[in-house]
Amino acid sequence: MRHLIEIMDLSTEEIEELIATASGIIAHPEEYREVCRYKKLATLFFEPSTRTRLSFEAAMLDLGGSVLGFSEASSSSAAKGESVSDTVAVVSGYADIIAMRHPKEGAPMVAAMHSAVPIINAGDGGHNHPTQTLTDLLTIKQKKGRFDHLTIGLCGDLKFGRTVHSLIAAMSRYEGVRFVLISPEELKVPSYVKGEYIKSRGIPYTQSTSLEDVMPELDILYMTRVQRERFFSEEEYLRLRDSYILTPDKLKNAKEDLCIMHPLPRVNEISTEVDSDPRACYFEQARYGKFIRMALIMKLLEVRK
Ligand code: NCD
Repeated sequence: MRHLIEIMDLSTEEIEELIATASGIIAHPEEYREVCRYKKLATLFFEPSTRTRLSFEAAMLDLGGSVLGFSEASSSSAAKGESVSDTVAVVSGYADIIAMRHPKEGAPMVAAMHSAVPIINAGDGGHNHPTQTLTDLLTIKQKKGRFDHLTIGLCGDLKFGRTVHSLIAAMSRYEGVRFVLISPEELKVPSYVKGEYIKSRGIPYTQSTSLEDVMPELDILYMTRVQRERFFSEEEYLRLRDSYILTPDKLKNAKEDLCIMHPLPRVNEISTEVDSDPRACYFEQARYGKFIRMALIMKLLEVRK
């Protein structure tokens, strides 16, 4: 039985296969409408979510399966003090696969140790978010046609942004990739991420506090929200939240084929005026989330078309 706890649990070949399946689903969704008939997905969300939870649920429904679960810790027995391991041991008796989001780093790993069915990490604290990365990879593949020889700018909260950590890990495996890390001093990529995926692999990277300075180099600009819920002080959050606001003006020196991504939700780090720029990919990116999750559910449940 396979789980997906972090993106490196999948080989690059497996990622290619998932992308191929997702592309097949995009082209011929009708061929997949029954593949998960009588299967159930449980979504255990101990933290807020819109896209991740709903795209997981839509994915399972579009595969002909059904869904159950909860969308906040307060409506589950966690509010009575139940442990993650007990919750999962019980739910894995009701469902065939579980997608779980939790504020504590490592919770999905603990869940996997107590589950009789595959566990998918749908985000654990400031740590990892592998299914967002699969969504990001599908978007990059659709927009750029490749993963190698790309300069990727990651901008915003690189410290607490779990999507950033998983994307860096995933992209570190491709040749000719270069990272441009754009953040305030206080929100730099954690040293464990930099050490494990950038420095030890000899990947070229630069760090900048200015988005404008590096804009002309970028093939991909991955904007992120400042993660308010992970700050110890509201004052610190308020001081940093508007560090970067992407506007049409700041895009003047950008490449014609830049791909602007964002895992969403956006707060105000991308002005809505950018939405009509053909380089804005974030709403399409969110749409791809459902297809790649369909492919992932099929893989972990070992079902085929
Ligand atoms: C992200 C997350 O939950 O980490 N959202 C998502 O899943 N698309 C990004 C964020 O919350 O800022």
